[in-house]
Amino acid sequence: MYKGKARAYTNIALIKYWGKKDEALILPMNNSLSLTLDAFYTETSITFAEDFAEDRFFLDGIEQSAAATKKISAFLDMIRSEADCPLYASIDSRNFVPTAAGLASSASGLAALAGACNEALNMQLSVEELSRLARKGSGSACRSIYGGFAEWQQGTDDTSYALQVASDDWENDLSMIFILINDQEKEVSSRDGMRRTVETSSFYDGWLTAAAKDLVTIKQAIADKDFAALGAVTEANALKMHGTTLAAQPPFTYWSPESLRAMDCVRHIRQQGLPCYFTMDAGPNVKVLCQKRDEQAILDALQANFTPEQLVLAHAGSGLTALPLENDVPKMSK
Ligand code: ADP
Ligand code: DP6
Repeated sequence: MYKGKARAYTNIALIKYWGKKDEALILPMNNSLSLTLDAFYTETSITFAEDFAEDRFFLDGIEQSAAATKKISAFLDMIRSEADCPLYASIDSRNFVPTAAGLASSASGLAALAGACNEALNMQLSVEELSRLARKGSGSACRSIYGGFAEWQQGTDDTSYALQVASDDWENDLSMIFILINDQEKEVSSRDGMRRTVETSSFYDGWLTAAAKDLVTIKQAIADKDFAALGAVTEANALKMHGTTLAAQPPFTYWSPESLRAMDCVRHIRQQGLPCYFTMDAGPNVKVLCQKRDEQAILDALQANFTPEQLVLAHAGSGLTALPLENDVPKMSK
């Protein structure tokens, strides 16, 4: 029996990953850039054992459906072959983040799973190798291996992984306020939403051209520690990503009336002189990027429109961490 445990934090993309050029290998159509955050995370334990007859996947204590387990098994098959381990596994994962609500549970979930496997099977992977592995579970997970800013480079199967973006610790001056609109599972998963967009949206080519330019702009903003430039390109990039879904067939949107109200609220606070910018992912929740020095004033302003329970404050989080095991279970020998 081999056992390992790891924690990974969610990351929110400031320049979004939206579309795959290879569905099976999870290779993206464009580079993306994210900030890892400390408010939401996943802890996952995995046990590989001789007497297991199949893989079993427990999320927050509940055994998951055959379909959800199959997705995890496909990821584990790849790891079993890489680590030369023939054993089935039992996964026990805890999401300290709402699952499938556009709050990046797939990023923390698959990064934590990759980390737990690395521990259990004593794979001794480098951060780049861990990022590459996590990518094959869920694209955005490759960025959660790192704390702070990370860029996922498109690449090929071997070279598609995230790298830390040097920032002189500037991320520690930043905050992100989550406005929770709805924490229930969304109707269109990120995976299905981006596939539909790539295949059918007449705006998709425009997205790719814009995303490449936005990436150059944001890297310069980080190098210059220019918050206004960082925020402006973050907000514009999210709007362009969401624009593509309106031109898909059939069209769809992740926005709800409450999301629009939150976006208006952020614009209004900005017009009042407090620098803050929004971003959104595949779900109705809105995330507000601001500087730490302004976070209390922005929280106060948001509280006029949203309940305290709806507002979650986050700062830059750390990268993937191996966690100690409750019992002394051996790792696989190298
Ligand atoms: P989100 O916005 O939360 O990332 P997605 O639709 O992109 O939503 O991804 C949700 C999917 O991620 C889930 O259906 C599941 O397949 C996977 N996932 C979420 N949490 C975990 C976890 N802790 N362990 C393994 N897979 C997870
Ligand atoms: C909108 O990484 O969840 O959050 O690779 O199919 O698992 P799969 O998709 P996933 O998509 C994330 C999409 C996004 C943007 C981003 O995080 O870059």
